[in-house]
Amino acid sequence: MNNPIGIFDSGVGGLTVLDYMREQFPHENMIYIGDNAHCPYGDKTKEQLLSYTRKICEYFIAQKVKMIVLACNTTSANVLDELQKLYPQTPIVGVIHSTIHEFLARHHQNVLVIATTATIQSHKYRDLILEYDSQVQVHELATPKLVPIIESGAYKQGVQSLLSEYLSPYRQKIDALILGCTHYPILLEQIQEVIPDIDYISSSASICQEVASYLKNHQLQNQSLDAGSIHIYTTGNVDSFVQSSIGFFEYQHLKAKHLDLKKGSL
Ligand code: DGL
Repeated sequence: MNNPIGIFDSGVGGLTVLDYMREQFPHENMIYIGDNAHCPYGDKTKEQLLSYTRKICEYFIAQKVKMIVLACNTTSANVLDELQKLYPQTPIVGVIHSTIHEFLARHHQNVLVIATTATIQSHKYRDLILEYDSQVQVHELATPKLVPIIESGAYKQGVQSLLSEYLSPYRQKIDALILGCTHYPILLEQIQEVIPDIDYISSSASICQEVASYLKNHQLQNQSLDAGSIHIYTTGNVDSFVQSSIGFFEYQHLKAKHLDLKKGSL
């Protein structure tokens, strides 16, 4: 029960998931990995994504995690099934199913999904939404320039013109927007300026409900009343990881460290 939960993404985006998880599960121990050595994931092939994520899962399993959360839509869309088959002893969850449940619960009829190229090309969001409700109009848009801008920290100077290029064709045409990449909630306020007065569904928030049910149903909740420990690692450069996350991630005192997954050592 007091084993940690492993959470990963390609970089700082999954910290938006860690933020919600920390708030909802204050007593859980957690290990976060941002795989910045391979960021962005959105332009990678399925084979590359599988190779990167296998290393991360094997590292987590060696740390005896009780579950693994793919805080990343790109890997949830492309390699979740494969990882679940490779590591059947470890529960592994992705962010897409819970985001779709959240979307369906809000009863919208016209939605735009923005995500990385690899997520959009999988058509996971479109296919799953239509499987549940064939009446919904699902628009899909790859927005590949956003993750590099967020990872570089340049998003802090404002990216409204790029967002406007991507999103203004959908003004007046949609009633909901799915932020189908865990990096995108970092831009939420800027997105709201460009395309206001619709409902925004964040894949980063939705996953917590699924994790909560899993822990409860399997009686895996940490019973300790102490604050859980959080260890944050990046496979890339620690300084730029920290710089990009300042402003949206409040746990800076946790001090990210470098992790070399090739050697499997810290
Ligand atoms: N944040 C990830 C996602 O949700 C990965 C983005 C990327 O590295 O391209 O898709």
